[in-house]
Amino acid sequence: MRLTVIGCGYVGLVTGACLAAAGHEVYCTDIDENRIAQLKAGKVPIYEEHLDEVLRRAVAEKKIFFTSDAGEAIRAGEVIFICVGTPPKENGEADLSAIDHVARQVATEARTPKLVVEKSTVPALTGVQLQKALAAYSPNGGIQFRVASNPEFLREGTAVSDFFHPDRIVVGVEDEKSAALFHEIYNPILQRKFHCPVHAGTCPAGTSGQLLITTINSAELIKHASNSFLALKISYANVIADLCERIGADVEEVTHAMGLDPRIGTQFLKAGLGFGGFCFPKDIQAFIHLSASVGVEFDMLKAAERVNKQRIDRFFEKVHKALWVIKGKRVAVLGLAFKANTDDIRFAPALDVIRRLTEEGAQVHATDPQAIGRTKTLLPKISYFDDPYAALKDVDAALVCTEWPLYRNLDWEKAGQVMGRRLVIDGRNLYDPKKMLALGFDYHSFGRA
Ligand code: UGA
Repeated sequence: MRLTVIGCGYVGLVTGACLAAAGHEVYCTDIDENRIAQLKAGKVPIYEEHLDEVLRRAVAEKKIFFTSDAGEAIRAGEVIFICVGTPPKENGEADLSAIDHVARQVATEARTPKLVVEKSTVPALTGVQLQKALAAYSPNGGIQFRVASNPEFLREGTAVSDFFHPDRIVVGVEDEKSAALFHEIYNPILQRKFHCPVHAGTCPAGTSGQLLITTINSAELIKHASNSFLALKISYANVIADLCERIGADVEEVTHAMGLDPRIGTQFLKAGLGFGGFCFPKDIQAFIHLSASVGVEFDMLKAAERVNKQRIDRFFEKVHKALWVIKGKRVAVLGLAFKANTDDIRFAPALDVIRRLTEEGAQVHATDPQAIGRTKTLLPKISYFDDPYAALKDVDAALVCTEWPLYRNLDWEKAGQVMGRRLVIDGRNLYDPKKMLALGFDYHSFGRA
């Protein structure tokens, strides 16, 4: 099938590349001409595991095309996936101006009927507005636009793998024809008829996800409800960690045992610096806002958000206790990305940590396997090191902010020899406190003795 993807951020690129790998012909466009020029030149503008390989193959097989001419891309596809950003406004509400802009483009540039799909995360009831906007912006009202919601559940860092091996594909539609189109689009994924980069061609046998057909309103709600629930879980684990510190229990032992109950599950119970990234913080705000706008006070979410914001304060309580005066100290920050396996620093806790350290007069040595380039443009005044051991040289303390495997496996004996003082404050609970103690470190983490 011929498909259009509008917006070449990580969601758009992963969606476009994976649907091309599933045999569809995909036309991608973006308002950022530089980004399109880069993609045409074979450069992938973001770091996302397997994405370059899938894109390269799709380009070679002439299954994916990039154009800065939105009209050309819109006319080429039967189904149009909207993958543009929906950033938060000051009041937490999602800013849907990019979606509105795309609706106008689609309505004015299309010459044949289209199925227009919300792929970006949008608040419930956006589909209703989108349908109205398409009709209103259509110059002569002659073309029929149908709307659908197909939320993504892609985690940055494992987005390609998530797309190819979904737990579920949620599709909100209002008519049979749209449902049939989605079956056709996703059948190659569900039947594993694609070259899998994760499993070198063929995925191992196992259950593949299911396609769930719902209403548009339900599909929109499923996305926000899922992300918010995961954020709640993280904040819950973080409050348990605070309790563990007061009571003298170990949060890793507590959450591990809790998670063995299949009704709870082990994932997203990792205590630490809390959640960042461009999804949870903004989605939780947008969901609180949407709920209030329809007369439902979602206090639980407000608490989860508050707990998350307080993680940096909790971290700095530890830093102050261990390091005492920060002014004039040399401090290494290990990890800048909001989580491992991505170069994304949006709402990354590490950036708040660095801002606070510099405000208090510390000299910061920052390191990250992928995110130095992006961070430098935001925080140009601190020192950057590609090699973590170079970042640790002569420092008074090391602050761990991202759970990169590189840091999990760091040789702390070697690190200790170059550090000015053996002090580690671990925001991601990566190390065994006993082992760190045995290596002579003053070691602090969340929710553990
Ligand atoms: C999240 C969801 O997991 C995806 O399903 C969803 O599609 C995506 O948002 C989206 O809406 O586009 P992502 O933001 O890539 O994906 O990151 P996660 O892996 O969910 O992690 C979010 C944050 O929570 C990170 O800062 C991570 O370090 C933190 N986290 C995660 C914890 O602090 N503890 C945990 O136990 C798990």
